[in-house]
Amino acid sequence: MAPSAAIPSARRTVPAVRATKVRRGDAPLVMVTAYDAPGARIASEAGVDMILVGDSVAMVVLGYDDTLQVTVEDLAHHTAAVARARPECLIVGDLPWMSYHVSPQETVHNAAALIRAGAQCVKLEGGRKRVPMIEALVDAEIPVVGHLGLTPQSVHAMGGFRVQAKESEAALQLVADAKALQHAGCFAIVLEGVPDEVARMVTEAVDVPTVGIGAGRHCDGQVLVFHDLLGLEDRVAPKFVRRYASLKGQAVEAVAAFAADVRGGAFPDDSESYHLSVDEAEALSLYGGAH
Ligand code: KIV
Repeated sequence: MAPSAAIPSARRTVPAVRATKVRRGDAPLVMVTAYDAPGARIASEAGVDMILVGDSVAMVVLGYDDTLQVTVEDLAHHTAAVARARPECLIVGDLPWMSYHVSPQETVHNAAALIRAGAQCVKLEGGRKRVPMIEALVDAEIPVVGHLGLTPQSVHAMGGFRVQAKESEAALQLVADAKALQHAGCFAIVLEGVPDEVARMVTEAVDVPTVGIGAGRHCDGQVLVFHDLLGLEDRVAPKFVRRYASLKGQAVEAVAAFAADVRGGAFPDDSESYHLSVDEAEALSLYGGAH
């Protein structure tokens, strides 16, 4: 099957993303997660700007209940699969839990594994306390995306996957965190699970683009999880997920049709089978026999 005409993104470099700001008249950035080569090709042909090889792979692909179970090796494995598809998008490798919490040196070492796997930059969760790690990464020429608000790796500390910064003091802290990340060298900041008004404050307070997920309309871009937006996942979705397809339902129907065809003897038919040449069939005394 011929691929559809690619819509190349003009914003697949770190400096181009860093320069994007809706208030300066730029179109919002588009980011989706992808975890393998087919997903990367879909994202690329759809013209998205950035692919996040997210630690959400733990929940949407590997069946875990949270993102804490995946390692640098897991993320490198999925990043390499995405990179092999050579998507025309900026590839962001997600640093998993405990890969950037111990020391700047260990952080750089772990981030290097994702860069060597094919990411062009990395993402990490958390505010001011991550500044030493971010500075060490930038110093090692590894561009960094920050991630604030509902940070899934803090699920236990937050007491569940809960919208953050709902009170004014917490909202001001979030703005201060965003400024600290920008100052430390982050070239973009993901804002997850915060009120629309708070995301707007943060977006106005920083010069780097904000990319929202469950953070309303005022961010400089939006990100959704691939399986959510395609409806590959049909269990309960948070309210910020818009499903643009229902692929899970279509997939179940297709596999059920295959099962019915196999059980009813309708698959495979002659056109879906390989045949010997007439000469070879004759040599095997099959021609006119088995046929
Ligand atoms: O891992 C992920 O998919 C993420 C997004 C929710 C931003 O971090």
